[in-house]
Amino acid sequence: MDFALTPEHELIREMAYKFGQQEVVPGIQERDREAKSDRQMLDKMGQAGLLGVSIPAKYGGSGTDYIALGIVCEELERADTSARVVMSVHSGLHSLTLLQWGTEEQKNRWLPGLASGDKVGAFGLTEPNAGSDAISLSTTARKDGDSYVINGEKTWISLADYADQFLVITKLAGGGDKPTFCAFIVDRNTPGFHSKPLKGKLGVRAGNTGQIFFDEMRVEKDRLLGAEGDGFKVAMSALDHGRYTVASGAVGIITACLDACNKYARERKVQGEEIGRKQLVQQMIANMVAGRDIGRLLYYQVGWMKNVGMRHTREVSMAKWQNCSNAFKSANDAVEIHGAYGFCDEFPVERYFRNSRGAMIYEGTHEIHTIVQAEYELGYRQDKPLSKTLPAWEG
Ligand code: CAA
Repeated sequence: MDFALTPEHELIREMAYKFGQQEVVPGIQERDREAKSDRQMLDKMGQAGLLGVSIPAKYGGSGTDYIALGIVCEELERADTSARVVMSVHSGLHSLTLLQWGTEEQKNRWLPGLASGDKVGAFGLTEPNAGSDAISLSTTARKDGDSYVINGEKTWISLADYADQFLVITKLAGGGDKPTFCAFIVDRNTPGFHSKPLKGKLGVRAGNTGQIFFDEMRVEKDRLLGAEGDGFKVAMSALDHGRYTVASGAVGIITACLDACNKYARERKVQGEEIGRKQLVQQMIANMVAGRDIGRLLYYQVGWMKNVGMRHTREVSMAKWQNCSNAFKSANDAVEIHGAYGFCDEFPVERYFRNSRGAMIYEGTHEIHTIVQAEYELGYRQDKPLSKTLPAWEG
């Protein structure tokens, strides 16, 4: 076993850290307070090469391994969750799924634009009446000659107002009792498409989230990803990639909590003594350190499994479940350590607290991952080999 990160990983960590601190942190308090997302940040991420991380060089990406993607997510979320969400949606849910399921023609057509950031990708699975129970979605695709006509709506879509293209999961209209799921890559500028922002979120206020609607939206058959009937598997494998980015990003929240608490605990004095000397504060700091270090091991393992082309549905569920839970606990403790200052946005920890709560809901709730882990252990759930796997890293 080799746990060492390569010099390239270290360089990528440094680059993503600097990007986060220089391009995301300035103004984040105001953007979060005013619930204003920054569209220009997407362009800057593209220019910095972040949107092509872990996409093979032959499709215009950086050609770095999949662990690099996790490291970027960790360092971006250390700055703000809204920046990591871009990676989750654009790189994880959209681009890697296209890399896994696309034909050579589809990959050559879309991946270079996505890798350079000329095009932004997003993902549409969740509907007003189909969240955890994703299989109950009701958006339909009606076959009509050489095209499909899509009707329905999706909600809680990150980058709904900014993405140029969406990976959308539908049912085939007029199917029998057993639904036939289909996945499509659809363009925003297709007639019949529109989006609407969602307001009033508890966290990730500097990120764009919305609804997308399809009204008799006609798409050509070459936009079908996988075959008819593969749609649910496409969605679940997209979540294998999305959950990886969420799990690695959650470690960034813990690191950000430690950044803030280490400073505060050594500055704030009670009865002439730094609060960092108090054992109950040390207990909270130690728990954060454990969450960070265990969290890294969990996501590095998944990154390695991606690198060698292994299925990792169970492992990524574990990493997402544990890391998001530990990030929320760390943020709660970070508020505690800051006392009343943790209760206002003068210090960043209240933002970490609100932001970390969301990740226990999206990309599989805390409860879904708990059940999934129990089902694997009890033998009720087993992973079969996949018909299409994410290509192993070519080195
Ligand atoms: N890759 C490929 N195929 C997969 C797969 C994977 N990771 N996981 C499952 N499949 C396949 C299975 O092999 C199975 O195929 P067969 O029928 O041929 O055997 C099929 O898909 C159905 O799989 P399951 O039996 O596991 O399906 P299930 O109904 O038991 O799944 C569930 C239940 C795990 C709870 C699933 O519905 C789930 O994960 N729900 C949570 C949904 C979710 O995370 N939503 C988040 C939306 S996205 C988001 O939040 C992003 C954002 O923008 C904020």
